[in-house]
Amino acid sequence: MKRNIVLCGFMGCGKSTVGRLLAELTGYTFSDSDEVIERAEGRTIKQIFAENGEEYFRRLESDTVKRLSEGSGLVISTGGGVVLNAENVRLLRETGFVVYLRVSPETVIKRLRNDRSRPLLMRPDRDKAVKELMGNREPLYKAACHAVTDADRGARETARDIMSLYFDKS
Ligand code: S3P
Repeated sequence: MKRNIVLCGFMGCGKSTVGRLLAELTGYTFSDSDEVIERAEGRTIKQIFAENGEEYFRRLESDTVKRLSEGSGLVISTGGGVVLNAENVRLLRETGFVVYLRVSPETVIKRLRNDRSRPLLMRPDRDKAVKELMGNREPLYKAACHAVTDADRGARETARDIMSLYFDKS
């Protein structure tokens, strides 16, 4: 059995909420890659993007993935763009059971309607941006994961599904 459970998927798919519940269910330790970065930098993701740009953030993200992959007994919630880097995916897959939380663009648009913390969605044409970005990333999430779960449902139901996938298939 893989030593960690890794949650990946688009912004707003519920990785953090589901991850916390999953950690409670499994007794594993919850770790959120974006939170680790924010704590280490002493500023928000939004500030990091604004002050140093996306490329800088991606380097921090890859460093964090490396470090978290060394751990065990973790539920790791990743940022939506983690799959853009092949080395991130290789490490996460090697050490963890990677689950893709699949959501519809409509769910994301609804859940993030009032969100101002995600730089990539701070655009006047946000709905279009969600659909485009999601379309581009869908193949990457699919290729990165060991299993897919439907995350349009409630977080508790999704967490329970991931737990059985992990114990049955990992
Ligand atoms: C990003 C997703 C965000 C965060 C950053 C970039 C992305 O994480 O890492 O804003 O590229 O999709 P969440 O998926 O937790 O929102």
